[in-house]
Amino acid sequence: MKIDLKDQVAIVTGGVSGIGAAIALSLARCGAHIVIIDRKAVEASAALMKLITEAGSKALYIRTEIADFPAVDKAVLSAVEHFGRVDILINNAGINRDGVIWKMTEEQWDEVIQVNLKGYFNFTRAVSPMFREQKSGKIVNITSINGLRGKFGQANYSAAKAGIIGLTKSVAKELGKYNVNVNAIAPGLIETDMMKTADPVVRSAAMEEIVLKRLGQPEDIANLTVFLCSVQGRHITGEVIKVDGGQYI
Ligand code: NAI
Repeated sequence: MKIDLKDQVAIVTGGVSGIGAAIALSLARCGAHIVIIDRKAVEASAALMKLITEAGSKALYIRTEIADFPAVDKAVLSAVEHFGRVDILINNAGINRDGVIWKMTEEQWDEVIQVNLKGYFNFTRAVSPMFREQKSGKIVNITSINGLRGKFGQANYSAAKAGIIGLTKSVAKELGKYNVNVNAIAPGLIETDMMKTADPVVRSAAMEEIVLKRLGQPEDIANLTVFLCSVQGRHITGEVIKVDGGQYI
C-alpha cells in the first residue's frame, strides 16, 4: 500500500520536536508540504526544515503560541497565503505541569488547559470554515492514554486530553457531511523530550505496563497519522486509536 499525499498542505503544531517532528517528516515523505507551528525560535526548526526539503516537499515555519486565539487565526491565514490551501491539521503541541491535586496550583491547571485543550480548539476553529467550504479535510488530534484512564499526578493533563476526545467526536459529527475526517490518536509512553523529564519511577512503572516491553517511538505515532490522512483511511472518523504497545488494555 503506497500512501500518496502529493501536494497536500499539512499544518503540524508542536512540529519542531518529538512526535510532531516525526509526523511532519512522515507526511513530507508522502508528498505533503508542511507548515510547522511551534513556539520555539525559528533556528530550532532548521534541521527539520532541511529534512523536509530533502524529501522533495516545501516547508514553512510559523512561530506561534497555540493558546493565543488571534495568533492562531493569523498563522492559518499566513499558511493559506503561502501555499494557497490547507488540507490537513495535526494538533499535537502539548505540555505537562504535573502535581497531585492537593498541591496543584491554579497556574499549573490553567497553563495545561490553555495549551493542551484550547490550543487544539483554536486551530480546529481556524481551519473549519475552509474545510467546510472545500468539502475536504483531515484533522488528527494527539491525545494520550491518560485522557482515557486518568493518571496519578496529572489531573490537569488528563482532563485536557479527555477534553480533546470530546472535541474530536463532536467535530467529527459536525464536519462529517463536508467530507472531513476527525480522529484522535492516544499514545502511551513515547521516547521524546517530554518523556525525558518524567520521573524515572514513572518511566519504569510504564515499562511494567507495556505488554510489548519496548518504549514507543515518535515514528509509531507518525505511521498511524499518515494513514489517517490518506485516502486509505477515508472511512474512519470520530475514532480514538491507542498506540501504546498494550500499555493500557
Ligand atoms: P515534546 O515536548 O517533545 O514536543 C512538543 C512540542 O510542542 C515542542 O516543540 C514545544 O515547543 C511545542 N509546544 C509546546 N507548547 C506549545 C505552545 N503553547 N505553542 C506552540 N508550541 C508549543 O512533546 P512530545 O512528547 O513530542 O508530545 C507531543 C504530543 O504527544 C503532546 O500533545 C503530548 O501530550 C502527546 N503525548 C506524548 C506522550 C509521550 O510519552 N511523549 C504520550 C502521550 C501523549
